[in-house]
Amino acid sequence: MPKIEIDGREITVEDGLNLIQAAERLGIEVPHYCYHPGLSISGNCRMCLVEIEKMPKLQIACNTKVSEGMVVKTTSPKAKAAQSAVLEFILINHPIDCPVCDQAGECKLQDYYMDYGKYRSQMEIEAKVEKRKVVDLGPQVVLDQERCILCARCTRFLDEVTKTSELGIFSRGDRAYIDLFPDKKLDNPYSANVVDVCPVGALTSKDFRFKARVWYLQKTESVCTRCANGCNIDVYHRRGQMYRFRPRYNPDVNQYWMCDEGRLWYKELQKESRIMRPFVRGEQDFVAATWDRAVSSTVKALTESKEQHGANAVAGIIGAKATNEEVYLFTRLLKEQVGTDRIAGLFLSPADAFHDDFLIKADKNPNTRGLQALGLLNGGASVADILAAAEKGEIKALVVFAADLTAAFTQEKLDTALENVQVIVCDTDYTNMTTYADVIMPIGTATETDGTFTNFAGRVQRVKQAFPPPQQSKPGWEVLATLGGKLGGFEPTSISEAFAEAAKNTPAFTGLTYGKLGELGAPLAG
Ligand code: SF4
Ligand code: SF4
Ligand code: FES
Repeated sequence: MPKIEIDGREITVEDGLNLIQAAERLGIEVPHYCYHPGLSISGNCRMCLVEIEKMPKLQIACNTKVSEGMVVKTTSPKAKAAQSAVLEFILINHPIDCPVCDQAGECKLQDYYMDYGKYRSQMEIEAKVEKRKVVDLGPQVVLDQERCILCARCTRFLDEVTKTSELGIFSRGDRAYIDLFPDKKLDNPYSANVVDVCPVGALTSKDFRFKARVWYLQKTESVCTRCANGCNIDVYHRRGQMYRFRPRYNPDVNQYWMCDEGRLWYKELQKESRIMRPFVRGEQDFVAATWDRAVSSTVKALTESKEQHGANAVAGIIGAKATNEEVYLFTRLLKEQVGTDRIAGLFLSPADAFHDDFLIKADKNPNTRGLQALGLLNGGASVADILAAAEKGEIKALVVFAADLTAAFTQEKLDTALENVQVIVCDTDYTNMTTYADVIMPIGTATETDGTFTNFAGRVQRVKQAFPPPQQSKPGWEVLATLGGKLGGFEPTSISEAFAEAAKNTPAFTGLTYGKLGELGAPLAG
């Protein structure tokens, strides 16, 4: 554990850290372009030059490891002069694109120019070297060669992480440029990560280009719900509309990366098919209803079925896209307030779903493991058992929460099974399942609710509400809490109360609290 001094402040750090990492521990940012903590050291940009006592020349911080007694100056006149000169050199041929560049607002050239820029340039270059602009690299990414500072982060990502090596640096000197190798396309399942690693506006996302200025967007921590891996993400949104997902660092789940399909999953969560208000079935068709009416119709269906035919005449099916809190409240409502044993979890995943040995999982549900941990999917009633009982006339009321049975069972099967059953559907979108409903209650998606998911490896991770569900829809846990209260049972007033109760009553969640989960989540107990 070497003790070093950086800008007059002492710190003891682990062996093996470089000076950028050590300085970070003190809250000191050493300017850098080519260094990225998830990639190998390249040392090509020279932006991180710092002064080290007893060394005759400035050293690059990214490729200098800490050693006992080192005295480092990151802001001495000598270091600052070098950083300024490097920045000036990098900017010689840079186009004046900021007003139209998507990176504006999160560009390291802009940021460092404010700190290290030479406002009076010594260069008298009339004509900048021109290179190709708007180069189509593949389905996700566009390249502007003029904006590239040749830091080689993108090529290292493709060489080291995806090992697909689509991009290379060609030519020499100020003519050098990034391009695809002949006959290659940047079309691997993780291709859009190059946009994140590019410190400038050379690589931009086809999906996000020209959609929004980043300073208008708010950022909320969440988890991708496209598959069971649960990659940590930031949701960028404004006024209830999402614009992009970007990966958030979690060393135990996704490091710095996410897949392209997950990245575009935000579109799926804000489709036209969203249900905006509750409905109940009228004489002919659905009629719009107030929440009070939808809730009282549901309570009536559940209590009458129970009173007239026994508790097991009520059944519930919940999908693996519901949060842990929703699964807990759903199970408790049906088990304790209604008293039925007929509760089943449904997880749907195409048999041939794409997966790999990096992040992408074949299970396309975010919470299959949560359903298991909360006692569903481990024996007990199955969805098929419930439908068989319904066919025999044993089920009179069925609550279906975030599950589309039509994706797993034929129309013929469902028509027969549900013919005389009162069906209450709680979901985010209209699906074929909603056509069977007698009551429809609209709920929020994973970005519109607080809660947790348990990923394939048993890691419990929080999602935070980025914005409220649209129009009259409500977070699912609130709907379940209201139903629980109306049936005379548990009615949590906050999501943390619901989670605390789940943790108290579920062995796999023992000891977990929102505080313990923090930003990176925590494993299930045992
Ligand atoms: S395109 Fe971006 S990441 Fe790639 S070398 Fe150029 S500046 Fe670096
Ligand atoms: S690997 Fe799975 S969880 Fe991660 S970003 Fe892709 S779809 Fe989302
Ligand atoms: S960050 Fe150190 S040389 Fe580029």
